[in-house]
Amino acid sequence: MAEFDFDVLVIGAGPGGYVAAIRAAQLGLKTACAESRETLGGTCLNVGCIPSKALLHASELYEEAAHGTLAKWGVKTGGVELDLDAMHGTRLEAIKGLTGGIEFLFKKNKVEWLKGHAAFTGKDSVKVGDREVRAKNIVIATGSSVTPLPGVEIDHDAIVDSTSALELKKVPGHMVVIGGGVIGLELGSVWRRLGAKVTVVEFLDQILPGMDGEVRKEAARIFKKQGFDIKTGTKVTKAERKGDGVVLTVEPAKGGEATTIEADTVLVSIGRRPNTDGLALDKAGLQTNNRGQVEIDHDFRTKVPGIWAIGDVAPGPMLAHKAEDEGIAVAENIAGLTGIVNHDVIPSVVYTMPEIAGVGLTEEEAKERGEVNVGKFPMMANSRAKTNREPDGFVKVVADAKTDRVLGVHIVASVAGTMIAQAAQAMEFGATSEDIAYTCHAHPTHSEAVKEAAMAVTGKPIHI
Ligand code: FAD
Ligand code: NAI
Repeated sequence: MAEFDFDVLVIGAGPGGYVAAIRAAQLGLKTACAESRETLGGTCLNVGCIPSKALLHASELYEEAAHGTLAKWGVKTGGVELDLDAMHGTRLEAIKGLTGGIEFLFKKNKVEWLKGHAAFTGKDSVKVGDREVRAKNIVIATGSSVTPLPGVEIDHDAIVDSTSALELKKVPGHMVVIGGGVIGLELGSVWRRLGAKVTVVEFLDQILPGMDGEVRKEAARIFKKQGFDIKTGTKVTKAERKGDGVVLTVEPAKGGEATTIEADTVLVSIGRRPNTDGLALDKAGLQTNNRGQVEIDHDFRTKVPGIWAIGDVAPGPMLAHKAEDEGIAVAENIAGLTGIVNHDVIPSVVYTMPEIAGVGLTEEEAKERGEVNVGKFPMMANSRAKTNREPDGFVKVVADAKTDRVLGVHIVASVAGTMIAQAAQAMEFGATSEDIAYTCHAHPTHSEAVKEAAMAVTGKPIHI
């Protein structure tokens, strides 16, 4: 009898775990993946990236039809009606198709799916449901879940988290979003477009912490123009159910007089925390750090030989593509190859309209490290954005003043999420702003704004 059941056991089948499992199997390792959810794909495919983007797309189409944007293009739609059930149906179809796709890929690559909750029983053994298995390598990819807010208990009815906010059966009259981060602005956008009044309560002085300062300002201006009521520097201290709705007590973050806000639905979106509950990390000789994460080195090894960690449960941004890239790299490291993720070049995108994207250092971070040159180009002056009636936003390129190497790119534009890929690739190749400025970009595309912003770093763009 073989000493080990598997070469690799991955715990969690999110974008980190399922990618690691498939890559390990592709590399000839006998691989299993434990997942407690009934479907594969983790947070991202089941209750995160995919269903939120389905609703963002659907609500955008609705708003374009209902608010006369399509009519301006000569597309008259007559009476526009919202069929929320159909919208949810399309969301569920997207989830089913993609989670089923991962199941197919597991079968194709001979990854064994161990169904159930996994808990360590030793340094190389894990119990999944009733079955105990031993593996030479164990990858912790258990992801994250919603951070609770004391005093505002989520009941999945009037007080919801991101998962229940995706499933609302009717459009709230007034939705209050606690936390002006990515989830609050994306899901707030969905319900605002469908007719809700949306108030965002943010603890800090500005929304979207971590993003470039000018981007945060521009985003707040645009969201306010769209009808969001944004209350920054404000904290929620209490939530009380009243009838079908909720009464929130809020006060200035720095202290001061308390007031109340009535809401039909309250969305708690103040961040996410790593999932390690019930994993019995102590049986493997592991602990979490003070942020609840499993610490790793550059190769994704924990301090226990043979145990690795990736994705949201490990340090770094909680993003699906970061988890996926780490999934590939950890499998390659386990197989004796060299798996590397450049954590300095991980793009982040907020999928609102316009989209907000960034990669590398913000202008503020770059200036702390040395002298920089900054080039900016407004989308208003980009022919395609102007033609498409998408004038909001800009592209900003931050480059080292001495070497001209691009340190960061920040974009507010309707298709910023797609445009940021070229910036990430350029940075990955160590590009200068001049390299981007002298690269031929197809016309007419939004991406020409990246070229023009790069031209603005040390010289002059043509179209402004
Ligand atoms: P997860 O996807 O969380 O997967 C972990 C899996 O492990 C889960 O399925 C869980 O059931 C399972 N698990 C946990 N513990 C155990 C156990 N003990 N035994 C067995 N199984 C276990 N990121 C983006 O990049 N782009 C987006 O557009 C985006 N949109 C999002 C929208 C929302 C509403 C949310 C909530 C998140 C979004 N994210 C987005 C973040 C993204 O979903 C996560 O960064 C990503 O899913 C992390 O992948 P992961 O593999 O580390 O963990
Ligand atoms: P977040 O960290 O993006 O934003 C949380 C916001 O809540 C911050 O602005 C913070 O200052 C604020 N906050 C914290 N405590 C507060 C309080 N008590 N009262 C008021 N405001 C408070 O977290 P969010 O939006 O919950 O999303 C979690 C993570 O999920 C994101 O950080 C991201 O990693 C991931 N995600 C990514 C998406 C994408 O890539 N498009 C989409 C959705 C989620």
